[in-house]
Amino acid sequence: MAKLIGGLGTSHVPSIGVALDRGLRDTADWKPFFDGYIPAQKWIEAARPDIAVVVFNDHGNSFFLDRVPTLAVGVAESYKPVDEGWGPRAIPDFEGAADFSWHFVDQLVENHFDPMICREIEVDHGLQVPMELFFGKPDRWPVKVVPIFVNTIQYPIPTPQRMWDLGKALRKAVESWPTDERIVIMGTGGLSHQLQGSRAGFINQPADRAWIDEIGSNPEKYRNMTRQDYVETFGSEGAELIMWLVMRGAMDADVETVHKHYFAPASLTGAGMVVLENLKAAA
Ligand code: DHB
Ligand code: FE
Repeated sequence: MAKLIGGLGTSHVPSIGVALDRGLRDTADWKPFFDGYIPAQKWIEAARPDIAVVVFNDHGNSFFLDRVPTLAVGVAESYKPVDEGWGPRAIPDFEGAADFSWHFVDQLVENHFDPMICREIEVDHGLQVPMELFFGKPDRWPVKVVPIFVNTIQYPIPTPQRMWDLGKALRKAVESWPTDERIVIMGTGGLSHQLQGSRAGFINQPADRAWIDEIGSNPEKYRNMTRQDYVETFGSEGAELIMWLVMRGAMDADVETVHKHYFAPASLTGAGMVVLENLKAAA
């Protein structure tokens, strides 16, 4: 059967991709942020995944407010990066793990989830930027992807518990997939930020640091928070962090946080990363 080899959490701030496009990686402003990802890049190179399941939200690029699915899954053979207004990006298209995507959507329905099934869709910075942070700038991405789109834009957004349960269904799909493929799950979004209203610019660094430190060891704290708690603690857009719970719910109860990084502010957000391994993980 396929094997879950690790869980990654990361921010997906669009200006990270723009900074890379403009050659700003090694400037004083950006270098400490990008250098913090080097251990994670080495980890993923050594882990040799075949498939990355990427949990993210579209930001009004592939879905607009006229139609917003709470949960959507890509089943395409490939996905183009969306141009979000800075011009077409010089990054490769993403090859889809279409067979595993279909198996996953079947397992979702079997487990009483109701996904929208996307045969054709473009992916925005929510998927692009995590791939660049973990894989750098390859000519071709070394993994196939399964995009999972979660609505964190249009209220009501899903509950943290629902994200956890989605992770459990994803784990079942991995463990019932009859190949020897190696799978990583990326939960993306956050950390604290609010881009609108009277709290625009809000960042909560102590809460962000606690999240990075505890998402591996004490996920119950975050699974039991309400959606309102997320908005108050992390900001209206920081509530994207619920998507890390899909990754965390898919992992074992006992995990080791093998790498972590926090940097603030990146653009208008707290930004960071964790790499989690199941404690019982065999090589
Ligand atoms: C910004 C956008 C995002 O989608 C995000 O997750 C963090 C920051 C931004 O525009 O600054
Ligand atoms: Fe976002």
